[in-house]
Amino acid sequence: MPERIDQSQFWTEHSKRLDALSVDDLSFVHSRAVSDVIWVQRAFNWELSGRREAYARLDVPEANVDVGDNTVMCKAEASILVSEFPELRSPRVLEVGGGFGNFCRVLHHAVSPAEYTLLDTPSMLRLAEAFLRAHGINDCEFMASTEIERLRERQFDLFVSNICLSEMLPEYRKRLLELALPRCSYCFVIDGDGRNTEYNGWLGKQVKACFSTVRIFPVRTPWKNQKAFVGEK
Ligand SMILES: C[S@@+](CC[C@H](N)C(=O)[O-])C[C@H]1O[C@@H](n2cnc3c(N)ncnc32)[C@H](O)[C@@H]1O
Repeated sequence: MPERIDQSQFWTEHSKRLDALSVDDLSFVHSRAVSDVIWVQRAFNWELSGRREAYARLDVPEANVDVGDNTVMCKAEASILVSEFPELRSPRVLEVGGGFGNFCRVLHHAVSPAEYTLLDTPSMLRLAEAFLRAHGINDCEFMASTEIERLRERQFDLFVSNICLSEMLPEYRKRLLELALPRCSYCFVIDGDGRNTEYNGWLGKQVKACFSTVRIFPVRTPWKNQKAFVGEK
């Protein structure tokens, strides 16, 4: 693969800002560099796609640092996942673009994963490792975005990725999905762009090519209206 196919110019620049942050404590969560790309503000109304009951059942303690409404958002995403796959127990999870790891923390409480691999840029993984360690989660594997060819040797139960795939370079995203989706039994993606129906159609096609049962439905996020792409083999 050509060089730097794993990061757009935006993420390359952004990674430099993330690399400058200290991980001695969790105060990086409040940095401008983090909040520019991850929701850590308060007071939004997240559309739970009619999953309020499942959401209420998720018993997740607050994070050790004020993450604003990020936990609300992660719980909402996890509750949709749990209500879509009620039979899912102790899955081997591959999460792509997990940010500083709060969704991973929430999912640990929701489905007790047997294995958890976080795939992200090295800069973001460094923050995620510090955040998760501070919450007693030490069983994650951290896979850098430059290493996706290693997925060829792997098998997972669940592929999960929220608000991430649409921000990747098309060639990299295509290769990543080619490698990852056939190796997973379940797929849960919240993504898409209300303004780009061509991209949404492309993503739906990738999911339909690998999973026999596919459900695609709207999910309202703080930024833009997106869709859940849910697949089962
Ligand atoms: C908008 S954030 C979403 C983070 C988190 N999933 C959330 O919903 O808050 C996009 C994530 O994609 C990650 N990312 C960007 N380029 C990537 C790549 N090539 N491979 C893996 N992750 C990437 C970023 O570092 C960031 O964690």
